[in-house]
Amino acid sequence: MYQLCPETDHDTPEVEALLDLCFAPGRTALSSYRLREGVPHVSDLCLVLRDGTGVLLGAIRYWPVRIGDDAVLLLGPVAVHPTTQGEGLGALLMRESLARARELGWQRVMLVGDLPYYSRFGFEKLEGVEMPPPTNPDRVLGLELVAGAWTGVTGHVTRQLADHPAAVDADRLPRGESRAETEARASEKLSAQS
Ligand SMILES: CC(C)(COP(=O)(O)OP(=O)(O)OC[C@H]1O[C@@H](n2cnc3c(N)ncnc32)[C@H](O)[C@@H]1OP(=O)(O)O)[C@@H](O)C(=O)NCCC(=O)NCCS
Repeated sequence: MYQLCPETDHDTPEVEALLDLCFAPGRTALSSYRLREGVPHVSDLCLVLRDGTGVLLGAIRYWPVRIGDDAVLLLGPVAVHPTTQGEGLGALLMRESLARARELGWQRVMLVGDLPYYSRFGFEKLEGVEMPPPTNPDRVLGLELVAGAWTGVTGHVTRQLADHPAAVDADRLPRGESRAETEARASEKLSAQS
């Protein structure tokens, strides 16, 4: 039996230890970490997976990023404890979090990773999307949560700045609400606060 729950502050030290175990030293020097600095993660989509006794087996995290004016979910890191790899837990974390992202109204997801693994979830190499260097362009992958969502979305991937209207409630997009509607609502909210 497994427990799959959103990551809390209580989980975070354990998740960090798991990531240290699963990734090479210096993981935080990767360019994707530059896009996460000072930006809150998407709390509804950062999940921890524990066994029935509470032992941490895996975790997945997401951050909001932007390409021009378009909101994009940056998936990663995802990690499964070495003693339970190859049992389908990575796939469980991927499928469950992506389903939740779709439910929340996110339109497109990207990551930097191995196509042979992520292609099984529908990820494909993204053309014309540039991560901060140094990133191997062959590892820049994307998935559409809504048909056509990557069409015409190209350029540099940048941090989701806190004062951008879409940052307001970015992790809680109501289902069915378009980005334009979300941004209009966020602008109203910002105006009301200022
Ligand atoms: C990548 C990772 C999350 C996958 O989790 P998992 O629970 O082992 O994966 P699953 O059980 O769902 O899938 C296992 C399959 O994926 C394959 N696989 C795992 N990592 C792979 C990779 N980097 N490239 C290609 N295939 C990979 C396995 O060979 C296995 O293949 P099979 O189904 O043909 O036997 C896990 O191996 C891990 O934590 N690795 C170290 C950290 C890492 O590299 N994270 C990803 C980068 S963000």
